[in-house]
Amino acid sequence: MYSDKVMDHFNRPRNVGELENANGIGTVGNAKCGDIMRMYLRVEDGVIKDVRFKTFGCGAAIATSSMATEMVKGKTVEEALQLSNKAVMEALDGLPPQKVHCSVLAEQAIRAAIEDYRKKNEQGA
Ligand code: FES
Repeated sequence: MYSDKVMDHFNRPRNVGELENANGIGTVGNAKCGDIMRMYLRVEDGVIKDVRFKTFGCGAAIATSSMATEMVKGKTVEEALQLSNKAVMEALDGLPPQKVHCSVLAEQAIRAAIEDYRKKNEQGA
């Protein structure tokens, strides 16, 4: 049912935990399944220098969070905003249809963290 890549990121998730010096944090949840995902970003000069996540959720949510963090690390904020759940799913060699919403959560969590960063850091706050 799950690709080797999904299992790999589920069993050995990258970038798990909190980021103490995060300057953008986004938390999103899915009302139906109740899963919650939180992303921590450290942005410097418009570039995502570091990223961590905490996911209280299913295995696919953990695997997509892990892959999403790998995909945005080192990218500019603008590039990270382009990250789609489709791209994350492709990088994981696909997800079963009933698990697509888990990857949407990863996309939303990254966006929420970037929005938080922008609110706190780009408007003189
Ligand atoms: Fe809801 Fe996976 S079942 S995020």
